[in-house]
Amino acid sequence: MGASEASHLNSFQDINKMPPEGNKSSTKKTDSLEKTLCEGNITYSSEEIYGLNDFLGNEETKNEMKEIYLQLSGGKVFKSMGVKPDRSFIFYGENGTGKTFGVNCIGGELANEGKRILIARYEIGQYGTAYINKGSVILQSFFDEHRSLLKNKENGINKILYIFDEAEVLMGKRGSNKNGHKEDDKLLNTLMLNLQQISNSDEEQYIFFMTNKIDLIDDASIRSGRVDRKVKFQNPDYPARYELFSSAIKKINDKAKYHVIRNFDLDELAKKSDNFNCVDCLEIPSRAVKNKVNEILIERTNKNIPKAYIHQRILIDEIEKQRLTYSRTKKAKIGFQL
Ligand SMILES: Nc1ncnc2c1ncn2[C@@H]1O[C@H](COP(=O)(O)OP(=O)(O)OP(=O)(O)O)[C@@H](O)[C@H]1O
Ligand SMILES: [Mg+2]
Repeated sequence: MGASEASHLNSFQDINKMPPEGNKSSTKKTDSLEKTLCEGNITYSSEEIYGLNDFLGNEETKNEMKEIYLQLSGGKVFKSMGVKPDRSFIFYGENGTGKTFGVNCIGGELANEGKRILIARYEIGQYGTAYINKGSVILQSFFDEHRSLLKNKENGINKILYIFDEAEVLMGKRGSNKNGHKEDDKLLNTLMLNLQQISNSDEEQYIFFMTNKIDLIDDASIRSGRVDRKVKFQNPDYPARYELFSSAIKKINDKAKYHVIRNFDLDELAKKSDNFNCVDCLEIPSRAVKNKVNEILIERTNKNIPKAYIHQRILIDEIEKQRLTYSRTKKAKIGFQL
C-alpha cells in the first residue's frame, strides 16, 4: 500500500477516535491529557479530552450539560453562599444520544481548565454473576479506593466523577433481579449509603447514573433528595440533527484535506432523519464515505487513488437504509406483523 493510499484511508477512521497524529489540536489535547490523568490502576472513559463545545444535540440538553458543569466548577461559590452544588445525577433516555459522552465533555471541560479530574467507571457487567455475594464488598472498595485517591493531596486530583452506566442493573426494582433479593438489597444499600455520604460531605465527588431503561429503576432510589438532578436525553430535533450532520461532514472533509463530501444539503439531511439518534447522524456520513472507499478498492485498476467524492444523493441513500433498518428492528421488537 503506497503512502498516499495509507493517508487517504486514514481519513476514514471512526470520527469519534483521536484525530490523526500531527494535527495541532490533537497535540494540544494529548498534552493536556497527560497533565490531567493520574498514574495507576484507574479506568478512564475517554482517550481524548472533550469539552462542552463537543457536545451536540438538543438545546435543553446542551444547557443541562452547561449547568451541571457549573455545579462541578463553582463549588466554592456554592459553599460561600451556604448551599451545596448538585452531586448526583441520572441521565436517562434514548440510546446513542450522548449520555455517557456528556460526562466526558463535562469532565473534559474541567480538565482543559487545568483541573485534575478522575473519571471512575463502575463496570456493572464486569461484576456480574461471577461475583454473586461479593457485589456490595466490591462496590464499597470501589468507592473507598477512589476516595482515598482524592484525599491523598499528592496526586493533585481535584474531583472524582463516578459513572454507573446501565444503572437499572444496580438499582432495579425489588424482586426483578435474578441474583437473590438479599444480595441485591445489600448492593443497593451500599450504593445508597455512599450516595448519602457524597451528598453530605464537602469532598468533590459526583455520581452519574445512566440508563435507557428508567422504568426498570426502583423509584425510591432516585427520588429527589437521593439523586439531585434528572436529565432526560431525547433524540435530536431538527436543529440538532442539522448540527450533527454538519459536524460529522466537516470532520471527514478536514481529515481528508479535500471535499470528500460535497454539494450536500444539511437542511434536507436534517429533515429526512426525523427520529434518528445522535450516533446515527454522526455515522451516516462516514458510512456513506466508507461505501465509496469499498467501491474504489474493488474497482481500482491502477495505483493512483482518485480524489473521489460523494454528494447528497449518497447521503440520502444512507439515511433511507438506516430508516429501513429501524423499521425492521422496531417491528420485530414490538411484535408487529409485516
Ligand atoms: N449529543 C452528542 N454530541 C456529540 N457526540 C455524540 C452525542 N451523542 C452521541 N455522540 C457520539 O456517539 C458516541 C456514543 O454516544 P454515547 O455512548 O454517549 O450514547 P449513550 O446515550 O450513552 O448511549 P447508550 O444509551 O446506548 O449507552 C459518543 O462517544 C459520541 O462520540
Ligand atoms: Mg451510554
